[in-house]
Amino acid sequence: MTLILNGVAASTAIKEQLKQALSQSREKPHLVVVLVGQDPASEVYVKNKQKACHEVGFMSSVKRYESSITQDQLFNELDKLNQDNDVHGIIVQLPLPSHINANAIIDHISPHKDVDGFHPINVGNLHRGQNSFVSATPLGILRLLEFYSIDVVSKHVVVVGRSNIVGKPIAALLLNANATVTITHSKTKNLMHHTQQADILIVAAGIKHMINKDYVKKGVVIVDVGIHRNDDGTLSGDVHPSAYELASAYSPVPKGVGPMTIAGLLLNTYQAFQERG
Ligand SMILES: NC(=O)c1ccc[n+]([C@@H]2O[C@H](COP(=O)([O-])OP(=O)(O)OC[C@H]3O[C@@H](n4cnc5c(N)ncnc54)[C@H](OP(=O)(O)O)[C@@H]3O)[C@@H](O)[C@H]2O)c1
Repeated sequence: MTLILNGVAASTAIKEQLKQALSQSREKPHLVVVLVGQDPASEVYVKNKQKACHEVGFMSSVKRYESSITQDQLFNELDKLNQDNDVHGIIVQLPLPSHINANAIIDHISPHKDVDGFHPINVGNLHRGQNSFVSATPLGILRLLEFYSIDVVSKHVVVVGRSNIVGKPIAALLLNANATVTITHSKTKNLMHHTQQADILIVAAGIKHMINKDYVKKGVVIVDVGIHRNDDGTLSGDVHPSAYELASAYSPVPKGVGPMTIAGLLLNTYQAFQERG
């Protein structure tokens, strides 16, 4: 029987744990989202983050700035948030206007409040196998596998995609967890040769239905990170449903990795709260 890796069930369990952990605490974790300009997609993401915070009893605020704000002004705003002891986690919602260097802004967030896990210190600590904030989607994927007791030790994990927010950090996390990891990308020759070796296949390429049954071996665990909105409003992933037939377990789209990304952000914000100075 094929196991469905239900991200709604796993994220609900994590939210319950966080609520429990906070039930005796008078102080609450506080997440601040910095939003520059009026990108409609960003508005939706920010709303979802706030909703999740409220569900578990975290405080959340949005700091809104006009798209005309200068990089130096944004640095100053971040300085204030970095120094504010009532703020535990800071996210700068991307994309930023083109006159602002997103990397410079990320580098300006205190690594202790960088709950997106994008700061070079957190990225470096992840690669050294040390405590760090890890980008929310990879952290969510690890928790999804744990929730379904899928052991990664000595497994061959193949990751399709090498982005800084998904592919690279999930590869590092699973390497730290003693998996054997292969990372593939758009310049990889004979992708199918690699994906067919996977005990666990993580697909984050951003191409709808690119992985079909020809790419996988029987018994594989498939984690589909891709999200694509279809013309009829439904969502599809990077994995074609034909591949599910061969899988021992797979994460669906929707209700797979998506809800776990929010759970990952909540876990990071709670960690920042616990480790506050
Ligand atoms: N569920 C969630 O919460 C969540 C979170 C984040 C992202 N996503 C979704 O996940 C997908 C990936 O996101 P991302 O931010 O990682 O995307 P991205 O920054 O566009 O990176 C895509 C990666 O896939 C690789 N790639 C592209 N075509 C390929 C091919 N034919 N064969 C092998 N590799 C190929 C690219 O290789 P190169 O490096 O060589 O260009 C790149 O490394 C998107 O659909 C995104 O919407 C979902």
